Amino acid sequence: MVLPGEQARLYRPRPELLPAAHVPSLPHYQRLYQRSVEEPHEFWGDIAKEFYWKRQHTGPFLKYNFDVTKGKIFIEWMKGATTNICYNLLDRNVNEKKLGDKVAFYWEGNEPGDSTKITYRELLHKVCQFANVLRSQGVKKGDRVSIYLPMILELVVAMLACARIGALHSVVFAGFSADSLCERILDCGCSLLITADAFYRGDKLVNLKHIADEAIRKCKDRGSSLKKCIVVKHLGREEITVDGTCSKSPPVKRLCQDVQAPWNPDVDAWWHELMSGASTECEPEWCDAEDELFILYTSGSTGKPKGVLHTVGGYMIFAATSFKYVFDYQPEDVYWCTADIGWITGHSYLTYGPLANGATSVLFEGVPTYPDVGRMWSIIDKYKVTKFYTAPTAIRLLMKYGEKPVKKHSRKSLKVLGTVGEPINPEAWLWYYSVVGEERCPIVDTFWQTETGGHMLTPLPAATPMKPGSATFPFFGVVPAILSESGEELEGEAEGYLVFKQPWPGIMRTLYGKHPQFETVYFKKFPGYYVTGDGCRRDKDGYYWITGRIDDMLNVSGHLLSTAEVESALLEHAAVAEAAVVSHPHPLKGECLYCFVTLREGHEFTKNLTDELKKQVREKIGPIATPDYIQYAPSLPKTRSGKITRRILRKIAKNDQDLGDISTLADPGIIKHLFNSRCDTKQ
Ligand code: WTA
Repeated sequence: MVLPGEQARLYRPRPELLPAAHVPSLPHYQRLYQRSVEEPHEFWGDIAKEFYWKRQHTGPFLKYNFDVTKGKIFIEWMKGATTNICYNLLDRNVNEKKLGDKVAFYWEGNEPGDSTKITYRELLHKVCQFANVLRSQGVKKGDRVSIYLPMILELVVAMLACARIGALHSVVFAGFSADSLCERILDCGCSLLITADAFYRGDKLVNLKHIADEAIRKCKDRGSSLKKCIVVKHLGREEITVDGTCSKSPPVKRLCQDVQAPWNPDVDAWWHELMSGASTECEPEWCDAEDELFILYTSGSTGKPKGVLHTVGGYMIFAATSFKYVFDYQPEDVYWCTADIGWITGHSYLTYGPLANGATSVLFEGVPTYPDVGRMWSIIDKYKVTKFYTAPTAIRLLMKYGEKPVKKHSRKSLKVLGTVGEPINPEAWLWYYSVVGEERCPIVDTFWQTETGGHMLTPLPAATPMKPGSATFPFFGVVPAILSESGEELEGEAEGYLVFKQPWPGIMRTLYGKHPQFETVYFKKFPGYYVTGDGCRRDKDGYYWITGRIDDMLNVSGHLLSTAEVESALLEHAAVAEAAVVSHPHPLKGECLYCFVTLREGHEFTKNLTDELKKQVREKIGPIATPDYIQYAPSLPKTRSGKITRRILRKIAKNDQDLGDISTLADPGIIKHLFNSRCDTKQ
């Protein structure tokens, strides 16, 4: 139970952290912060000097326009300077900083006992080899490459190889369906796809190549330019078999699976065959700081995923700097971020940020509950993890099993804990703090977005007194404001729209191929500001508290979904005439999907139909989008202009009778009926 007043209580950093900390006190943070926002050119200019630039930057350090009424929105940091991000992450760490023998990643497979590691030098060699492979396949600077892989080292190698030759990677989460993958391949016009035979997630086998093939077929039907598919032999990996044979018994289940990946010799090629004989040297492509680095799709409120585009220079310095300060990175750290690389957290804080700092990280293929619910803590002990970054949904899931599985493991190596992805409820925060971290480790509750490239609001471990549930204060270079509905900046204690007033280096530059949409989504509502789409409250001490999405998005287990996307998946079913989807609180996932459907004539609402609809959404979008509740609605509440009022449906889903003004509805009579036929949400 959270005690009254607990949310207001301050949790101060422990004195042990202070001596080595990059920012050892609140006044120290305030000084650095002040400089970062008042003199951004000098502040980031000094940081940029720590990186390698082939051609130094001249001219203005930052140029931008944030105001749609004054013309096109644009943001340019260090335009004209040239560099290569992969060179900064690998070559420099190996050659200049002499970190060649340092472990870059400990890879921990789904099955305990299945693990390996890779040093900075080995990683550099593999990346160079694969960059050469890509070039030999005709991939050039500016081309797009889709990567659809589980959490294996080849995923990092593929991303960095793209970055090395100036190609843009578009990583698609391996839990997405063939339709979702196809949509993303088509949107950015990818010429090449990288995937794997199959993998295990917990005890579930995912035949990735089958799904990829289906996506390729669909893409082809729609005129895609995809020509090649490179396949990693992961489950059937031969070179790692313990004794050269494939024993059928655990513990290493991965090695025993004889997966026959379907094969199309015109399109498919094995990764290991292309790699054998490829040179371990590869001249990087020198890119402008403002050249494109990658595209990452995130849900859009129109139902179509948005291709968020990040560029080389700004993203590099922002991911690197935020990693260093927010986790108070020290050279002896073993850092573990549990996020999948298919999301932005895995890009910035599992790949680019840690490698830029020469850090040692854990890359984990599995899930927190397999083979048992102590897996996370056993991995922490195995690798002596010092900094641990996860999501509130994982914390809530593990909380359910009580303290015992946690306490079975020592966790004494832990120094800093982090969370990301959604607001963390104070109860989960306190459990994380007291049970997992034994009141020894500060929690960095980091608020940010795919679009922001890195942390926006966050405590710094040795500087910021924490309040459970608050992402506290802005990171360097970030100037937040809270606006009222009419666009007025609210001072002091206030609640409203969270916006940012000036660019930081990691901000997205556009939506790939859709600049007008970029301007509309993020800059139109309040000219002069970047609009996050999140609600926020500032308390009397100046702490920021994210209150959740205010657009038609929802956050399931830390993954953003748009209600429109789920609605359109439901509408593709022959029985469905209309669908409206709202978010509903969920004890583990944070939010879940509650759907209302009206049916076409001649169809009946049965258990069978509900199952079919759930299956349809899974197949169209992916398992994370599976609805928890589907309610039959003879009709939906709408405004007179025909807009579905999701505000009211949200209240019906929650059984909250306090509806406020319903006089604008075309047919208020339907509401009572919907309340009476609610799904049972108590189970
Ligand atoms: C939510 C994830 C509260 C928020 C890095 C945001 C959070 C969306 C937090 C972005 C947090 C993320 N506290 N809410 N610490 N972190 N969010 O693009 O609604 O997958 O807009 O990026 O997640 O999700 P995305």
